[in-house]
Formats: sequence, C-alpha cells, structure tokens
Amino acid sequence: LYRKAANPASSSFILLGPSGAGKTSFLTSLESASQRAKTATPRTHTSQNPASTTIVLHPSVPIASNRYRSVNDPSLSEAKRNPVKYILRDTPGHGKLRSSQLSQLQNDLSSKEKSPIRGLIYFVDAALLADGAENLRDSAGYLHDVLLLLQKLVLSKNKSLSKAGASISVLIAANKQDLFTALPAGSIKERLELEIDRIRKSRQKGLMDASAGSLDNEDDEDLLGGDDGQGTFSFRLLENEIGTKVDVIGGSILSEEGQDPKSGVRAWEEWIGSCL
Ligand code: GTP
Ligand code: MG
Repeated sequence: LYRKAANPASSSFILLGPSGAGKTSFLTSLESASQRAKTATPRTHTSQNPASTTIVLHPSVPIASNRYRSVNDPSLSEAKRNPVKYILRDTPGHGKLRSSQLSQLQNDLSSKEKSPIRGLIYFVDAALLADGAENLRDSAGYLHDVLLLLQKLVLSKNKSLSKAGASISVLIAANKQDLFTALPAGSIKERLELEIDRIRKSRQKGLMDASAGSLDNEDDEDLLGGDDGQGTFSFRLLENEIGTKVDVIGGSILSEEGQDPKSGVRAWEEWIGSCL
C-alpha cells in the first residue's frame, strides 16, 4: 500500500589498474546482471574516459550493516524490495593517461561527494604477471602510486580528509583466473609486494639523497608504509601504518556460471558488500 522512495546509492567504488586488466569487463558484467532487461553491449575496447554506473548489489550478497542476511533469511525479500545500490566508476588504465588519472583520483578522494568513496578496486591480469617483468613493474608502479595517495589522505592533518581516507578499503582483483597461466591470488600478492618494495627502496634512497643522509618526518610521509618498516614492504605493513586493509582476491569475469561460487565475480561482489 505504500511505496518506498528508491534509495539512492550511498557509496562509490573506483576501478583502477593497468590497461587490459578487465575493469570495463567487470563493470559491464555487473551492469548487465543488475539490469537484466537491457542487454548490455560489451565494451572491450580501451577506455579513454571515466564512466560511472549505478549497480544494484545482488540480493544474496551480504552487506556489512546486515551481516547475517542469507538465502534462508526472510530479510532477503526485504533486500529484493529495497535493493542496495552503489556507484561503480570505471577509469582508463593506459599508461599515457596515468598521471591525469592519478590527479583525478586525488581530486575524487578529497572532494565531498554525495556518495563517498568506500573502496578502490585495483585490477591486475593474473596471467600477465607470470612472465612479463614489464607488466609486473607497470602494475606494481601504478598500485604504489595509488596507495601512496591514499596514505597521504589518511595521514592528512585535515581531520575530515583523514576520516574519509580511513573509511576506504582496497581490493586487488587478481583477474583472469580462467586462464591456465594465471597465478593464484597468493602469489600475485607476493609479487606485487616484492615489486612495491623495490620501488619503495629506490624512492627511499632518492629521498635520503635529497635530504643528505637522513629522512626527516616530512619526507617520511612520502614513503609508502612509513620509514620505520625496515624490512620488506607488505600490505600488512601498510595496514599497521595507516589502518587500511588490502585484500587480494582471485576471480574471473569470463568463467562459467554455476560452477565454483568463488570463481567468477562473486567473491569481489562479497567484498563490495562487506564495505557497504
Ligand atoms: P583499459 O580500458 O584499457 O584500461 O582496460 P580494461 O581494464 O577496461 O580491460 P577490459 O575490460 O577492456 O578487458 C581487456 C580484455 O581482457 C578484453 O578482451 C576482455 O575480454 C578480457 N578479459 C577481461 N576479463 C577477463 C577474464 O576474466 N578472463 C579472460 N580470459 N579475459 C578477460
Ligand atoms: Mg576499460
């Protein structure tokens, strides 16, 4: 007898990562799943502009604020009546657009938006990090710069910026697990950590050279994971430093439906749900 006003999307997520990793494919697959009536045209060409889309979270995916929602739960029908929405923003990954992409991200992260950014989803092609050192360097380099932006935001002296930064989680989506050359999430994590460690060490050296021998506190903020982490870089080190958790989860956009529920995009949707 009454109709609820359509609830607007209250959170957004930004898709990042190198060209060809699968960001647009992911957006398109969720888009077509959430508006089943329309047939989404696959956009597999290289993206040049950011594009935002409102996605309806699959009603069976639990959300943090309603953790125990399950298939047998009567609240599932409530979830269908009153669907949870979020905004997914695609970005282009091409190397030539990298610096403008990073400054765009910085703007987005520090601007007050109606639907605040809850997560960064960083796509990598898990089959390409196996052999090509070049691809690993590119993927890790971009990720390093993204995480450093986030660290600066969290450590910002501006209280509201810092608070906004602290509520952002990071997912590394190790995509293309359907390919037999794809590395599992665990080794993607190790490789990215090691490569970021290299970047961090050379950056630390650069900062030390510039300040003649020792890092002062200001430079310290420019070093991912802080200065006191003498050992190798890890996402755990970053979490200890700024409280941001980085999850690495494998998946595939092209995998068959109805097989292993952990393959496909389901695990990533669950991660998104856990942020809502
Ligand atoms: P840019 O827009 O250039 O930054 O790339 P992108 O990250 O948006 O990549 P896109 O989604 O366009 O995908 C690139 C290619 O990878 C396309 O040919 C997709 O079909 C393919 N692809 C995406 N996901 C998967 C996957 O899970 N498995 C396989 N085998 N191929 C995939
Ligand atoms: Mg794209």
